[in-house]
Amino acid sequence: MNAGYLLNQLDHYADGSRSSQVMQVYSRALTRIQRRAIAEYYAAKPGLGSQLHTGRQANNAIAALLNKGDWSRNIPACFSCHGKMGTGSKLIPAIADQPVHYFIVQMNHWRTGTRPVGEGDPMATIAKNLTPTEIAGIARYLANESPRK
Ligand code: HEC
Repeated sequence: MNAGYLLNQLDHYADGSRSSQVMQVYSRALTRIQRRAIAEYYAAKPGLGSQLHTGRQANNAIAALLNKGDWSRNIPACFSCHGKMGTGSKLIPAIADQPVHYFIVQMNHWRTGTRPVGEGDPMATIAKNLTPTEIAGIARYLANESPRK
């Protein structure tokens, strides 16, 4: 993961523009130099790629959204940016193996405008174009949880 991206997120928590009660408190307690040091520490760690589970549940509708998107609703393929398995790249965060709750909360923050978007960042539009059921389905699929009835 890219240090600039991570530092940006910590700065957003510290200035309150990205919401999380827990992360705002911790980010504010750090100086900018400490935030930068933490961002660089995590940026130097290897990505998820090697540890990714392979037992993803078959769910064709969700797999289609991830691999192809749905252009009739202006939703691009998630994996076109987030990597073939959702493992991310140096510039774009991984979406594979995130906790289901965290994933859903991030998407809802974009839907309600409580997570800032950078210039050209597509996520607020994408989050608004997905249905809540699709968001929950993608979250579970990427976390390798069974779809709930
Ligand atoms: C055109 C490129 C692009 C596409 C397509 C895309 N994303 Fe993203 N996504 C990004 C970028 C860039 C970020 C980092 C945004 C930021 O935090 O400012 C991001 C961030 C995220 C995050 C937050 C990760 C975290 O650690 O907080 C989630 C969740 C996410 N995307 C899900 C999706 C899903 C689901 C789809 C498909 C429906 C998708 N993305 C399609 C570029 C893309």
